[in-house]
Amino acid sequence: ADALKIGIAGLGTVGASLVRILQDRREMLATTCGRAIEITAVTARDRSKDRGVDLSKAAWFDDAVSLAANADIDVFIELMGGSGDPAYAAVKTALGRGIHVVTANKALLAAHGIELAAIAENKGALLNYEAAVAGGIPVIKALRESMTGNTISRVYGIMNGTCNYILTKMEKEGLSFEACLKEAQRLGYAEADPAFDIEGNDTAHKLSILTSLAFGTAIAADDIYLEGITNISIDDINAAADLGYRIKLLGVAQRTESGIEQRVHPTMVPYDSVIAQVDGVTNAVAIESDILGELLMVGPGAGGNATASAVLGDIADIAKSRPGAQHVPAFGRPTNALLPYKRAQIQ
Ligand code: NAP
Ligand code: HSE
Repeated sequence: ADALKIGIAGLGTVGASLVRILQDRREMLATTCGRAIEITAVTARDRSKDRGVDLSKAAWFDDAVSLAANADIDVFIELMGGSGDPAYAAVKTALGRGIHVVTANKALLAAHGIELAAIAENKGALLNYEAAVAGGIPVIKALRESMTGNTISRVYGIMNGTCNYILTKMEKEGLSFEACLKEAQRLGYAEADPAFDIEGNDTAHKLSILTSLAFGTAIAADDIYLEGITNISIDDINAAADLGYRIKLLGVAQRTESGIEQRVHPTMVPYDSVIAQVDGVTNAVAIESDILGELLMVGPGAGGNATASAVLGDIADIAKSRPGAQHVPAFGRPTNALLPYKRAQIQ
């Protein structure tokens, strides 16, 4: 079969890891996917930056939208970040051409996911985004595919590696909040603007995506009750430990009698629960449903390799898909069952 031609926009922590893996495992992937995967186009902000990978065979584009509009590609991989342009315009442009898109960008999907999914569906393109929620954990596939037919009552968990890393290091090593955050940034876990991590917005973006998939609702991150970890001190963590609890930043979406409730906030969880034992950059997502029962997935939630692994899985799915095959819709058609938990209503 012909090689699958991919264009990558964004060559930072995730993008450079992806390029390295695609190059190191070229033959293995060609066998597993039934066709080679070729990087034919790339873009980032700074062309002169050494990224530790060989990009000499790919065409360089000076901006992501022109890559999405003009490159000879079957798949556009968006790894730049940000809910606005150029990510939004580039993804729209690629989908408009009927080109499949893979993205790790939860901020973009939280803002525009339903619209982008509709364009993808109209054009017969795939919009895959496994890496956007909980890093390497295959939670999107679980909700979109494996759990079809289940009625879901609750989805919750630890969805931000940076926050869990900070809370764990503060507790176990007694380091300051600022020192732990710096380390998370050095390790490539944090967002370009780490306020998105520590103030809970990143968890809210991810939760809004899971809510839409689990309950068939609109994606409404702005309606989530939101509290991050910036006010958590070592004294809080120690006081919780004295009572037999650990503090975790949880995202929770659940069915209630009046609608779907969504919230993100630091939570005291009993020390002997599985969630309490999830340390460092590890994430955990629990899904409660009627047929399957309770599913709990625990795994690496951030970092170049963990995230690239999920992006690679999305690319492999496309490489293996047959032309004209019936695609799984990226998001269901939304209903309006969400409870409007405006931030202002919460004390
Ligand atoms: P990053 O290290 O900051 O890399 C971003 C890349 O995008 C850089 O190569 C940058 O170019 C390029 N870029 C930024 N703005 C651009 C623009 N306007 N035009 C062209 N290129 C631009 O970010 P990352 O950690 O790899 O994250 C990428 C995406 O994956 C984000 O959506 C993030 O939320 C998501 N994600 C990250 C992780 C993680 O653990 N890091 C996990 C899951 C999802 P330069 O290199 O030239 O500056
Ligand atoms: N900044 C995010 C985190 C990256 O720390 O979880 C993974 O989405």
